[in-house]
Amino acid sequence: MIKTGDEIRQAYLDFFESKDHLVLDSAPLVPKNDPSLLWINAGMAPFKAYFDGSLEPPHPRIATSQKCIRTNDIENVGKTARHHTYFEMLGNFSFGDYFKEKAIIWAWEFVTEVLEFEEDRLWITIYKDDDEAHDIWQKKVGLPEERIVRMGKKENFWQIGTGPCGPCSEIHYDRGIEFGDSSEDVLGGEGDRFLEIWNLVFTQYNYTEAGEYKELPNKNIDTGMGLERVASILQNTKTNFETDLIKPIIDEVVAKTGIAYQKDDESQTAYRVIADHIRSVAVAISDGALPSNEGRGYVIRRLIRRAARYGRKIGFTEPFLYELVKTTAEVVKGVAPDLKQQLAHVENVIKSEEESFLKTLEQGLNILEDFLVDLKAENKEVLSGKNAFILYDTYGFPLDLTKDIASEAGIMVDEEGFEAEMAAQRKRAREAREETSFSSGEIDKLYASFKAEVEAVEFTGYHSLTEESEVVGIVRENQKLQSIKKGEEANLVLHKTPFYAESGGQLGDKGIIKNENFEAKVLNTFARAKLPVHKVKVEKGELKRGDSVKAVVYDDRRKATARHHSATHLLHKTLKEVLGEHVNQSGSLVAPEKLRFDFTHFSALSDQELNEIEKRINKAVMENYPVETEEKALEEAKAMGAEALFGEKYDEEVRVVKMGDYSLELCGGTHVDATGDIGPFKIISESGIAAGVRRIEAVVGEFALDYFNEKVDILNQAAAELKTEPDQVADRIKDLQKEKKELQKELQSLKQKLAGSKKDELLDKLKNVAGINVLTAELSELDNQGLRNLIDQLKDKLDSAVIVLASKGQNKVVFVASVTADLIEQGFHAGKIISEVAQVAGGGGGGRPDMAQAGGSKVDKTAAALAKVEEIIKKQA
Ligand code: ALA
Repeated sequence: MIKTGDEIRQAYLDFFESKDHLVLDSAPLVPKNDPSLLWINAGMAPFKAYFDGSLEPPHPRIATSQKCIRTNDIENVGKTARHHTYFEMLGNFSFGDYFKEKAIIWAWEFVTEVLEFEEDRLWITIYKDDDEAHDIWQKKVGLPEERIVRMGKKENFWQIGTGPCGPCSEIHYDRGIEFGDSSEDVLGGEGDRFLEIWNLVFTQYNYTEAGEYKELPNKNIDTGMGLERVASILQNTKTNFETDLIKPIIDEVVAKTGIAYQKDDESQTAYRVIADHIRSVAVAISDGALPSNEGRGYVIRRLIRRAARYGRKIGFTEPFLYELVKTTAEVVKGVAPDLKQQLAHVENVIKSEEESFLKTLEQGLNILEDFLVDLKAENKEVLSGKNAFILYDTYGFPLDLTKDIASEAGIMVDEEGFEAEMAAQRKRAREAREETSFSSGEIDKLYASFKAEVEAVEFTGYHSLTEESEVVGIVRENQKLQSIKKGEEANLVLHKTPFYAESGGQLGDKGIIKNENFEAKVLNTFARAKLPVHKVKVEKGELKRGDSVKAVVYDDRRKATARHHSATHLLHKTLKEVLGEHVNQSGSLVAPEKLRFDFTHFSALSDQELNEIEKRINKAVMENYPVETEEKALEEAKAMGAEALFGEKYDEEVRVVKMGDYSLELCGGTHVDATGDIGPFKIISESGIAAGVRRIEAVVGEFALDYFNEKVDILNQAAAELKTEPDQVADRIKDLQKEKKELQKELQSLKQKLAGSKKDELLDKLKNVAGINVLTAELSELDNQGLRNLIDQLKDKLDSAVIVLASKGQNKVVFVASVTADLIEQGFHAGKIISEVAQVAGGGGGGRPDMAQAGGSKVDKTAAALAKVEEIIKKQA
């Protein structure tokens, strides 16, 4: 009997494999090449391009179990039986192959014969006008009329944003009256009695950005069955949260707090929020997402913060979510095996995010508490958008967290006001997203339309850098053109090309496309609908569609790029060897002049580790391993131990790049023939770019040589300045520093002595002004510290006096004043005196009654300023 989540998934995939479906792994949660989507949110999402015909599927029938994230209902998660941010969708897809009849008959066969659901618990809904579906359910499957219910567009027309959509038919399961008998416990209602378990979408339209439903070239099938829901039925649990796909996480949290799961509604909600959110967060991070302040990263941040806040309700005051990653990896391993391998990285990222939130949480909660108390006192019910924004901006409270907390106090949040405050930030983000006014799907489709005219092997540039070819398409601003001429820019598609299109971190090729009448510079090469597209600027003549051309890649640039790319593979492998298997590539850039490699690791690399890495890579270079490439089936390549990137979706056929026995990686990039071609390898920087992610930049070949030479030049210059040999520079600097210290000491004691010798001289200048001892003098050989020392010494000798000394520099004069205690009692104040004095010299300042300092810029007024002292005393005495 099928029962566990793993068993249900396997039974589903086996069933559709037996119906000639190609079974694929779940795509990563982070969508590839689809800016319209933040997350993969349905089984069909990774296949949009197969549905709209812009790409050819590897097989017309596919089945998957797809991990999904949906965050539109985040506030309900934890509060209801079946809202989740993370869930798994089982799906079978047909791309222009079978349609309604097979989809319906197989679905029925699976639920009744494989899952063995009792037929009279099952109910069907269809789109109101869909007679075809009705007849299949009634005549082919044999269901009684009353079990087939027609519903409207809201219920039975499936569509998320733009893209493939269509009428649908849903299978519902009646759990019985004991699960509820409210007015919502009806077909299509929100109650817990009727569960929608499977949605069969008859995908025949494409909903465009312009708001039109366009008939798709093929009729397709897209289905989605909720794994957690089916598990809850088969495991006879009240909600999805008690199934084996979630409950072990809750159990672990319960073991930590000692508070029963169902103690009361509040703790039950807390457990559910935590278990749900940690599934999203952990799997998303293992697929390459990281917490940040925008887009996808902000979803991760919000989920961690919301879960941490609920954690406080059941007693957690320290980070704890990260400790749940291990159990999470266990429950999701059937669909997200990568999480297990990335455990340490994911834990580390979550922990540091929890720590940084906890730092401001207490403060933010207090502020919010104050806001709420004030509102109550004023009998108001809405927290202003401005205050919600303060919490967001200063205390890192996502809006839904503020809303959650406010709603517990019966207060709503002015979301519009909040949005208005956010407008500036969002505008920036939007501008970045809307670089082009065309949707990615439309652009892909335009380029895909050239496919028939392009040779099957489009890229010939692994072995040759020139190619005789033909212009298949000219495109500018998403319009096909017939020709371009001198001075114009456009994108070209060629019949075949040696130009490498930017991908896998490797920059696209540059070069020349020309014939006798025409020449254009290729400014960049990128991929669209899997075709290489050349961005060109015409330098000479005119080019028409269909013209023959010669395509020539800049040789030096390509070779330099290949050197850096091959070095990246050596670096990846060496980092794993030196730092440990937890190291995984999280991003890379391969340019002609350098490489950049981002990878998961917890701490800064020591000099020793960096040295070791360089040494090993240079050794692998000198071993001169041959670099061999081979096409393989993905499974075979993985079985060989080829490095694949987490969060990357690979085709079924992959290219494997092998460097002796040193490195084996899946990669479509261009490489050197043997590692010796890379030349010297040098790391130029190492830094942290996010929690648990480090970045290394390195240079190879001539760029490494330039780097060394530059450093040697600097060293030689320094040696020349120091009048020594380069290898003596460090010692020489040490000596000089020691010498400098000694000189400073000596200088200090000389100053002391000088002040001492001045003392007697000065005592002679003591004047009696209106019965007060006044001493003023200019001593430009002393700095202000010297003046202070001198004043201290004078005060030893003088029981009663006002002393003002000045020291002139080039552009500045400093005054120091002092008043003895008895005269302070009489009302004299060093700070006030000095401020008047300094004013004469164009400055200001002040200080305490007994001692004060000030400066002035009019150096030539020093004598006049000092003369002012007598005046002040006279006035005051
Ligand atoms: N794409 C459909 C859904 O998400 C199957 O329900």
